[in-house]
Amino acid sequence: MLALLGGNPVRSDPYPAWPVFDETEVNAVADVVRTGEWGRLGSHRVIAFERAFAAFQGAAYGLAVNSGTSALEMGLEALRLPRGSEVILAPFTFMASATSILNAGLVPVFADIDPETYNLDPACVASAITPRTSAIMAVHFGGLACDMQAILDIAAARGLRVIEDAAHSHAGTWCDRGLGTIGDVGCFSFQASKNLNSGEGGAVLTDDMEIFSRAIAQHDLWGGGVVQRGGQLGRGSLATGEGWDFTVSAGDRRITPFQAALLLAQLGRLEDQAQRRAANGSYLNDLLDDLDGIQGRRIDAFATRPAHHVYVFRYLPDAFNGLSRERFIEAMNAEGIPVAQGYRQPLHRTALFADVDGALARAWPRGDGTPDIDYAEVSCPHAERLCADETLFLAQSVLLDDEAGMVQIADAIEKVREHAEALIAADGAATPRSDPPSA
Ligand SMILES: Cc1ncc(COP(=O)(O)O)c(C=O)c1O
Repeated sequence: MLALLGGNPVRSDPYPAWPVFDETEVNAVADVVRTGEWGRLGSHRVIAFERAFAAFQGAAYGLAVNSGTSALEMGLEALRLPRGSEVILAPFTFMASATSILNAGLVPVFADIDPETYNLDPACVASAITPRTSAIMAVHFGGLACDMQAILDIAAARGLRVIEDAAHSHAGTWCDRGLGTIGDVGCFSFQASKNLNSGEGGAVLTDDMEIFSRAIAQHDLWGGGVVQRGGQLGRGSLATGEGWDFTVSAGDRRITPFQAALLLAQLGRLEDQAQRRAANGSYLNDLLDDLDGIQGRRIDAFATRPAHHVYVFRYLPDAFNGLSRERFIEAMNAEGIPVAQGYRQPLHRTALFADVDGALARAWPRGDGTPDIDYAEVSCPHAERLCADETLFLAQSVLLDDEAGMVQIADAIEKVREHAEALIAADGAATPRSDPPSA
């Protein structure tokens, strides 16, 4: 019997908790406290992390910042794209991918995804290009590589820049190259749920010294002259006046040494965790391939190591007697499998892009500020359908379990299918009849 109807669940222990830490992290943070060097400026710990993470992912330069959203804004700003020009991205992502574009004075243009990979479909990118397009943002959703060769080819043919939203992609690869190191600039998040995390944080990676220098300058008021000052932040001095000039209208997007200490410790765990997620992800794909009404994600040969920040799959209710996705999720959760619905709507259907309270108009970066794209008219049918009815998410920490834990996911799906009819009948019986009111 289904756990939802009083039976025993397939699994009673929780999947691995996140974050994973021990005294290494506690001591690393305590060490920062003891040094008294709590600020970013002049912090060798932050620089040590930036170098280690850039090397791990395979980029020449890395700058750590306070969030993934900041990293995207800075990455875009560092590309010096014309104000009001258009950046193409998929709408199947977190909102920050699009708001970073607006915040950088640019216009997001949505192109649909390939329904089997959930990533930007290069053919849709090609048809979204206008004379105002200046860049493509490749979001490696869930840490699975976009079709970068196709995207780079389109960009090269049209003179466009490529920014990678690699917020989900730590330790993920495309053709054995680290994600976030393939386009002009790559942007990472270290927010609490991410595969490498310090509660909050982000990073910009690039091989281009000029982009790196601009990103430094944009992330801190003291950064404007930093390259001239030997690459070290915080050399400006109120006492001597050295470095006391400001070349850029920068914000403050600094990360702290406390976060860098956590990140260095967590980076030491990343490779092992990435190998486990990749192995379990591939095993789970094989298990799900055998199930009716469930479709795993297509992993193309170029996606050499998916980071599996989110493990995503499709639910087709017809194979479950028409059981709604919502009820399927409740049944799976009762069986001890923490599946979730994921993104409620694609980005072009969010309140911001419907401009419900004028927020889009306040952010619009061209013309007289009146949005000249009607996002209600934008059609990305795959992203719309997948959000509305079919997508299921499993968080990355589920894939840190063992193979038996993957088998339990498949077993629970089969169990819900076998009992779907009984569940629908029980739900029908439990729904109070709406008799017409008596006169
Ligand atoms: C795809 C994607 N891009 C960007 C971000 C923004 O990162 P942050 O929350 O660190 O600002 C996130 C965060 O969840 C994300 O999922």
